[in-house]
Amino acid sequence: MTVPAIEAPSVLIPGLLHPRVTERLRSAFSLVHLASSDPALLTEEMKARVRGIASAGQVDAAFIDALPNLEIIANFGVGYDGVDARHAGLRGIMVTNTPDVLTEEVADAAVGLLINTVRELPRAEAWLRDGRWVSEGGYRLTPGTLRGRRIGIFCMGRIGRAIARRLEAFGLPIAYHNRRPVEGVAYAYHPTLKELALSVDTLVSVAPATPQTAKIVDAGIFEALGANGVFVNVGRGATVDEAALVDALSKGTILAAGLDVFADEPNVPQALIDLPNATLLPHVASATVHTRKAMADLAADNIFSWFSHARRALTPVPETGHVTAKI
Ligand code: 8YV
Repeated sequence: MTVPAIEAPSVLIPGLLHPRVTERLRSAFSLVHLASSDPALLTEEMKARVRGIASAGQVDAAFIDALPNLEIIANFGVGYDGVDARHAGLRGIMVTNTPDVLTEEVADAAVGLLINTVRELPRAEAWLRDGRWVSEGGYRLTPGTLRGRRIGIFCMGRIGRAIARRLEAFGLPIAYHNRRPVEGVAYAYHPTLKELALSVDTLVSVAPATPQTAKIVDAGIFEALGANGVFVNVGRGATVDEAALVDALSKGTILAAGLDVFADEPNVPQALIDLPNATLLPHVASATVHTRKAMADLAADNIFSWFSHARRALTPVPETGHVTAKI
């Protein structure tokens, strides 16, 4: 009698993914690569075989529905707006993300971006490199300073708290807005984003992209921050009305903005690029070899753990916290 070979579960990788995820998974799973998460690219064989997805991009409801044996989607990134997690939860499919391992790195970058925005350090460096220190003298005294600023943090999760801890050490008062007050957090809580913006001059957003946060940072928020206002975003670009931000920066409604995220990455509106008081980064807050490796390991470990005897995910997102593995 021949014993049927136990087939390794198939894990699908749509689009580009950190190579370490692939390297790790290759040792135990049969990998299926696809150019993108387009259901039209799936063969019947793939549809039948695939039990897991590892992804850093879009996984929408149609793609989930095209895979009848799908059990887990491991998202590379703490933000998982690319994955329809609610739909996955309804279908009994686990979704995981990569929290904690990037918290301190992203908080470091947020504070760096804030300082660059207020003190114009990238422009001061360009001044030196362009030879203007020699030809024209010292760089201008900046109208912006961190001194005397009042910090508002939009979304007091792990990253928000790590940013707050850093800025507290800078001697700056901290307040925040979140869906609800966070237990154990003593900073002043504001029940609406508008109330927070009215009480501070510096808004640092870590907010995720959800239907509730879409373009929530709008003209009214910039007006509330005022002429000395600074807006920094390391959350998601979809939370910002970018046209209103361009307007606020060009008219002096606020002083400056520092952005690591945009509504339509990698396409940054030319109007923002043209503004001297916008400090722009190409979504790099977690982008170090160290932290991206840790994120890759956590994404892979979620899949390993799910298909191990434990049959459980390490870092499930709230929408799929109820999902358990069949047998
Ligand atoms: C990554 C991020 O750039 O974790 C997130 O939510 O935005 C960043 O750390 C992104 O996830 C890479 O795909």
